[in-house]
Amino acid sequence: EEATLQKIVAHAKEYGFVFPSSEIYDGLQAVYDYGQNGVELKNNLKQIWWKAMTMLNENVVGIDAAIFMHPLVWKASGHVDSFNDPMVDNKDSKKRYRVDHLIEAKAYEYEEQGFPDKAAALISQMNSLLEKEDFEGLGKLLQEEKIVCPVSGTSNWTEVRQFNLMFGTLLGSVADEASVIYLRPETAQGIFVNFLNVQQTGRMKIPFGIAQIGKAFRNEIVARQFIFRMREFEQMEMQFFCRPGTEMEWYEYWKEKRYKFLLALGLPAEKLRFHVHEKLAHYANAALDIEYEFPFGFKELEGIHSRTDYDLGRHQEFSKKKLQYFDDEITDKAKQRYVPYVVETSIGADRLFLAILCNAYTEEVKINAKGEETKRIFLKFHPAIAPVKVAVFPLLRKDGLPEKAREVFEQLRYDFNTIYEEKGSIGKNYTRMDLIGTPFCVTIDHQTLQDNTVTLRYRDTAEQVRLPIAELNSVIEKEVSL
Ligand code: GAP
Repeated sequence: EEATLQKIVAHAKEYGFVFPSSEIYDGLQAVYDYGQNGVELKNNLKQIWWKAMTMLNENVVGIDAAIFMHPLVWKASGHVDSFNDPMVDNKDSKKRYRVDHLIEAKAYEYEEQGFPDKAAALISQMNSLLEKEDFEGLGKLLQEEKIVCPVSGTSNWTEVRQFNLMFGTLLGSVADEASVIYLRPETAQGIFVNFLNVQQTGRMKIPFGIAQIGKAFRNEIVARQFIFRMREFEQMEMQFFCRPGTEMEWYEYWKEKRYKFLLALGLPAEKLRFHVHEKLAHYANAALDIEYEFPFGFKELEGIHSRTDYDLGRHQEFSKKKLQYFDDEITDKAKQRYVPYVVETSIGADRLFLAILCNAYTEEVKINAKGEETKRIFLKFHPAIAPVKVAVFPLLRKDGLPEKAREVFEQLRYDFNTIYEEKGSIGKNYTRMDLIGTPFCVTIDHQTLQDNTVTLRYRDTAEQVRLPIAELNSVIEKEVSL
């Protein structure tokens, strides 16, 4: 049975993973804060991505560009002119919605009611109207489908209009001298504008990549589905610069590599699929999404795009600086200088977090010795990404057990994120660790005082084994590596 998103949202909040932003003021739409366990999980995901990109690829290096960029960057990138979404306002509630979100919600309703064909037909009708930018048609579709505002309950809509998704703010202290600048809606442009800096100072030879992790901002209208679509989020992007004509090879290469990365994190193959874009942006010559089956259906998790020389070409045009590479391996002199082609991989850290959380959430029903049904909830994270790796408990708070347990804690905490707890019953402590996905619990009992062995409990099986304290670090080390 598929855990509903509601259960996961509630679990994430109750156990310190994700809180609504400014919750004591009733929250801020589509903005979230990561709690004590969430930040550990997210940092682990980012660190593993970073290492997979930079350490494990000799020809990929990282950067950390600023969130603010020159206003012309967003002209060159096309975001000023075409980073728009069609929206409508409800005249009664005065709430604004993205048209595609309203229609998708309706399709979801059809699916829930057992009409998948109707849902699919609606989505395909919507997509063809979106592609033609037929806003009048989209408005008509809202009326025909009797789509109502979730707040007012009426279908009293304004006409459909385009809104830009970038957040603007003012740079400079004097209002009339200040100029509008944007919070970046993607991290990729920070890589493009630094292409020459990195290539020259790092003496990089093509093909090579630049990776970056950082915040991005989009004024998403009506955010839904928890941290799937946020207004402030983090991206992990990599642009791979290659010789024109070799881009399809690299596109295939990164597609496989990124898919394997997601499998290694524990996402199962049956919940992942490729969605190849049939209709391409005019500058792209291949594009696909890796989709994950969230509780609300298969949705984009990561994008892999072959973007040709479009981005560097546009920056060359707007900045009037040559963004070329001199390829001394090419013998034909006329072809030695060129603007490299780019293959991009782009994944949201928050969206990956959500996929990992959904996949980890496990409800296990078992029949106990008395024949009663018992339910155990646990987060089945791969040990490498679990927020807390080990918890150490003394069986009792006496007889020198706490002192011995603290010794074991000291032995573990420099290698792993470890928790020490002496209050509460062992059973309750195990349950609490299951709920935050801690893969290992170590219990110190009277036998420990005699022979320096402890019990090691495994989260997924609840199985316990006895082993010497001296072996703990190496046994756990093996399990927490990817
Ligand atoms: N540079 C390419 C780019 O930004 P995108 O498909 O718009 O492409 C890439 O975004 C990835 O960023 C998505 O696959 C998704 O994982 C994540 N993402 C995009 N918008 C998001 C949002 N509003 N909230 C959370 N993650 C988002």
